[in-house]
Amino acid sequence: MYTFADRDGTSYTLRPEGTASVARAVVENGLFGGTMPLKLFYIINCFRHERPQAGRYREFYQFGAELFGAESPAADAELIMLAHDFLKALGIGNTTLHINSIGCPKCRPHYKEELVKYFSLKKERLCNTCQSRLETNPLRILDCKSPICREIAENAPKTVDFLCDDCKNHFEGLKSRLKEVNIGFQVDVNIVRGLDYYTRTVFEFISTGIGAQSTVCGGGRYDGLVHQIGGPELSGIGFAAGINRLALAMETGSAYVESDEGPDLYIAAIGENASIKAAGLCAKLGELGLVCETDLVGRSLKAQMKYANKINSAFTLILGDGEISSGSAQLRNMKDGQQTDVDLSNAESIFKTVKREDV
Ligand code: HAM
Repeated sequence: MYTFADRDGTSYTLRPEGTASVARAVVENGLFGGTMPLKLFYIINCFRHERPQAGRYREFYQFGAELFGAESPAADAELIMLAHDFLKALGIGNTTLHINSIGCPKCRPHYKEELVKYFSLKKERLCNTCQSRLETNPLRILDCKSPICREIAENAPKTVDFLCDDCKNHFEGLKSRLKEVNIGFQVDVNIVRGLDYYTRTVFEFISTGIGAQSTVCGGGRYDGLVHQIGGPELSGIGFAAGINRLALAMETGSAYVESDEGPDLYIAAIGENASIKAAGLCAKLGELGLVCETDLVGRSLKAQMKYANKINSAFTLILGDGEISSGSAQLRNMKDGQQTDVDLSNAESIFKTVKREDV
């Protein structure tokens, strides 16, 4: 938690993530009373007082999606598919999906007991943080990054071996659906996630090539959270993707291609009258969907044409007093030098000419 005292001593804690806030919004606004499932998303900044390193910041951004009111593993599969397609659409191909089930309040206490028994026998070798985790949250020892804790955790009891029948069936239902849609995954018994509200499904998309902070997207089911913060019994599942880490993964995975594509059209204007007309024409063509620019800094005609070349404009059009009084101008295709006479009062036909000749 990023907690600090303000000038008057008031203690503030900055938002570390979005799921609890979304759950509170559902409760406070009575959204649980509507048709289910309820699907929400958010883009927020978050703060965590962690030691900064590449991919891990004190302030960072998240895109998240949450789905309430559906207990079926079909909901878990839909959310994971959404995250998968989202990463794919960004061109982040080098990720692997890790899934696990950490059980429910019925089966987890027994598992926790066995885990504490196991780690207590090796307590002296655990790192300091994990020694205190043994008292507070023994599950978190499983995803500790210290090499010694990792080695000890390898032989620890596994959540999947302690699931009750309902949790087992739920997990199997998720796996079948992921197989059906050809989303590759690996069951990773060490994925337990850092937040206390999770039940059953937990998952992470891990990217290769962006260093130690490699989880670009993480999520899971939290069937007890809404009730815990004062709402009704309402199941939930969601994920959040770290936008800063997505950007890192896009850069290293060559998904991020810098484009040298320029505007569709540059309108060179000679004189104040033409400049006003050019602004109007740019606006109209912009509404139709053309990316259109004109002079904003008072360049000479020669300098404007040089600029149009430099920004790689696909077409240019020169507007002077002659063109304004005749109502027509020459549209020049910068690729092949072809000129077409266009009617200045007919933005639609200019648009069509640019689009047709641009193919
Ligand atoms: P989380 O795994 O703590 O989950 O964070 C989600 C994502 O935020 C991580 O996978 C990572 O990409 C990014 N992230 C986390 N901490 C940092 C940091 N210090 N610097 C940069 N990026 C970071 C959650 O926050 C849950 N609320 C996700 C969720 C939604 N579970 C259910 N619904």
